[in-house]
Amino acid sequence: MTAPGHGHQTRQDGMATDTTDPPPAQRIDGVADLTVVVPCYNERPNVAPLVAALDAALAGIAWEVVFVDDNSPDGTAAEARRLGRLDPRVRCIRRIGRRGLSSAVIEGALVSSALFIAVMDGDLQHDETRLPVMLEALRSGQYDLAVASRHVVGGDAAGLASRWRHALSDAGATLAQRFLPVTLSDPMSGFFMLPRVLFEQLAPSLTAQGFKILLDLVLSVELPLRVIEVPAEFRKRLAGESKLDVLVLTQFAGLLVDKTLGGLVPLRFLSFAAVGLLGVGVHLMVLIGGREMLGLGFATAQIDATVVAMVFNFLLNNQITYRDQQLRGPRLWRGLLLFMVVCGIGAVANVGIARVLYQANTYWTVAGAIGAVIGVVWNYAVSATLVWRAR
Ligand code: GDD
Ligand code: MN
Repeated sequence: MTAPGHGHQTRQDGMATDTTDPPPAQRIDGVADLTVVVPCYNERPNVAPLVAALDAALAGIAWEVVFVDDNSPDGTAAEARRLGRLDPRVRCIRRIGRRGLSSAVIEGALVSSALFIAVMDGDLQHDETRLPVMLEALRSGQYDLAVASRHVVGGDAAGLASRWRHALSDAGATLAQRFLPVTLSDPMSGFFMLPRVLFEQLAPSLTAQGFKILLDLVLSVELPLRVIEVPAEFRKRLAGESKLDVLVLTQFAGLLVDKTLGGLVPLRFLSFAAVGLLGVGVHLMVLIGGREMLGLGFATAQIDATVVAMVFNFLLNNQITYRDQQLRGPRLWRGLLLFMVVCGIGAVANVGIARVLYQANTYWTVAGAIGAVIGVVWNYAVSATLVWRAR
């Protein structure tokens, strides 16, 4: 433990230098040394038990918890507020119209004025008794990052929902290790701790998309990181359900590509282009099917293919490219309608140009593809500004 009045020790290389902590005499009792950031979505039944668990595990430590809730329909935020009325250490950020684990964690961490920030799940799957161990390690000044790992001796991944999730997690870890500047046995861990100053230093370089905030952090560090891995059990989820599915792996791959390209090409554009490419495939399949199997005329087949590709692109972009602003329920239909109406203009150009090319003796699949590409470019420009615009 460091002497009171001194936070994280100064490193020789200047990374994460000391937070000039005011002397205890000037501080009001209860000022937090540790902020536990808890992203949550539909975790209402887990909020109170987690607070109780933190209270028990962090006895003797000045802590606070920041729940970052993306306006869960189950009233997670209201539950956090209720507890916050009873205990000033319980705080909550309620985000409206947004989804995303990484961005939730970043925003939660950025409200902290504590010396250290921990990130953990809100579903009791992470073992809160590891927190004092991690804090102790960081306070020694010997480490910049403490990661609770399921893959070191004593750790355990029993709680991973299925064999499929195990495979997904292992594949991700193996893939990630190739890109990482440090050795992390569990780079997918969502349970870690670091000095706030280090987080603040890295915050501007974070991608903020997807769910692998630890990877994002580690990939953003330029200097060597001193990492300690703390074995931890990954418990079974008792209430609620997991939000992470196979689609997040796509985002994860996107994060690695983004970091590899040094953030030069926006991730959203890459994602949109990839979806667009698939859309061209779908378009051609429908076009060929319409011509060869249904014997449709070229223009009719091209129109059908355009509509199908449009719906396909919309739905896939809503799932992947704009996952953080995903449209649902009535807004999904409104978005699709808007997308189709505005893209109708693009589709007219698409069909028109393809037809002109076809009449000028361009091979019909080539004419169709060129028309489709023009449609996709148009869709990109429109979607970013109108359909999924930040609300
Ligand atoms: N604010 C917010 N927004 N929170 C979210 C969102 C979101 O869009 N999606 C998920 N969460 C919260 C959940 O409520 C939970 O507290 C935490 O993030 C982790 O989500 P889970 O859905 O419980 O994830 P998991 O148990 O499948 O995944 C665990 O294992 C992964 C590695 O395989 C987590 O520990 C991950 O952090 C870890 O990377
Ligand atoms: Mn979980």
